[in-house]
Amino acid sequence: MAVCEKHQELYKELDSYIDQVKDKPGILIGVLHKAQELFGWLPEEVQEHIAEKLNLPISEVYGVVTFYNHFSTKPKGKNEIKVCLGTACYVKGADRVMERMLEELGVQLEEVTSDGLFSVHAVRCLGACSMAPVVLVGEKDFYGKVTPDMVNKIISAYRRGGLHE
Ligand code: FES
Repeated sequence: MAVCEKHQELYKELDSYIDQVKDKPGILIGVLHKAQELFGWLPEEVQEHIAEKLNLPISEVYGVVTFYNHFSTKPKGKNEIKVCLGTACYVKGADRVMERMLEELGVQLEEVTSDGLFSVHAVRCLGACSMAPVVLVGEKDFYGKVTPDMVNKIISAYRRGGLHE
């Protein structure tokens, strides 16, 4: 099956990365970064695979994964959409933006769309309260003063490859 073959390729790439860095001290975080870059998230079986390859207890790998916010144990869409539901954004209608976002994409919070393109996440404060309500797509595409009516335009742009690409 295509998915399995793809996964085999990813495991192969991960293993060759591990072989390159294996003898260096404190490489676990680097290996987890690489794995997340390849798989998009860190499924349990990937964590187990890493523990085995590095000869570490699975509890140590799991401990690091859950300690750092950066690591994700749930799948994410190619475009991770973060809607700020912090106080400043909330009072300016972020809940309606969130509602429209989920409605347009036909998903629940943190669920990935069937085409794999999007997932929607709620965050606390993105540090841009004066621009409330705020939406962040990926790591750096920032949208301020977002209204429910802007949601469709933002999403459509990423279906075509992104506003900023
Ligand atoms: S509360 Fe949304 S950016 Fe601060």
